[in-house]
Amino acid sequence: MNALQCLLSRRSYHAHQLCAPAPAGAQLERILSTAMTAADHGSLRPWRFILIEGQAIAKLVQLLTLIWQRNHPEASAEQIAAGLAFIAQAPQIIAVAAKVKPEHPVPAIEQILAAGAACQNVLNALHAEGFGAIWYSGETCYSDEFKKLMGLAVEDALLGYLFTGTPIQVGERKRASVVPHCFSWQGAGNLQPLQFC
Ligand SMILES: Cc1cc2nc3c(=O)[nH]c(=O)nc-3n(C[C@H](O)[C@H](O)[C@H](O)COP(=O)(O)O)c2cc1C
Repeated sequence: MNALQCLLSRRSYHAHQLCAPAPAGAQLERILSTAMTAADHGSLRPWRFILIEGQAIAKLVQLLTLIWQRNHPEASAEQIAAGLAFIAQAPQIIAVAAKVKPEHPVPAIEQILAAGAACQNVLNALHAEGFGAIWYSGETCYSDEFKKLMGLAVEDALLGYLFTGTPIQVGERKRASVVPHCFSWQGAGNLQPLQFC
């Protein structure tokens, strides 16, 4: 599989579609190293990867349960447990954050975009190495309290969580055409559909 075929065949696998092993050691370092080639205005390297494995996943579920009980008092214990069950299924979780420098001349949005680009590089690298993954988010990403529990500052952006492991069953996903998303600019406000042939 060449590089382009690899990019074109990447797909996500939900938590219940993943099993062990997840990447570890030097292989994990090499996969995360693809972050360092992400487009990065000002070379700020804003991405941070926070590995959550084993007992730490159980601790994460405990914390999320407490937060959900407090924020959603209408939800029963069973509903909350069912809603969070997928987290305990993850072989490995990599939280991804952008360490934002609010006063830097590079706007915060560009710092966050660089971390997002790093995240996508990592997803592609996981696929290239035969692993499966999915990028999840949720309301905790936007909670100052939760960011602090993750060891982040409130000005940082918590981009989400990469659930990583090995696909239980590898499958292809048919993709829609990019053509309706592509245009040719012909002058002030004049966009025309891009013709590829
Ligand atoms: C920032 C971000 C947050 C996401 N959060 C969720 C999420 O919480 N739940 C979910 O099912 N998919 C979420 N997704 C989408 C999945 O990661 C995935 O892209 C989607 O299921 C489509 O699958 P595909 O990657 O194979 O096209 C998120 C994607 C991004 C970029």
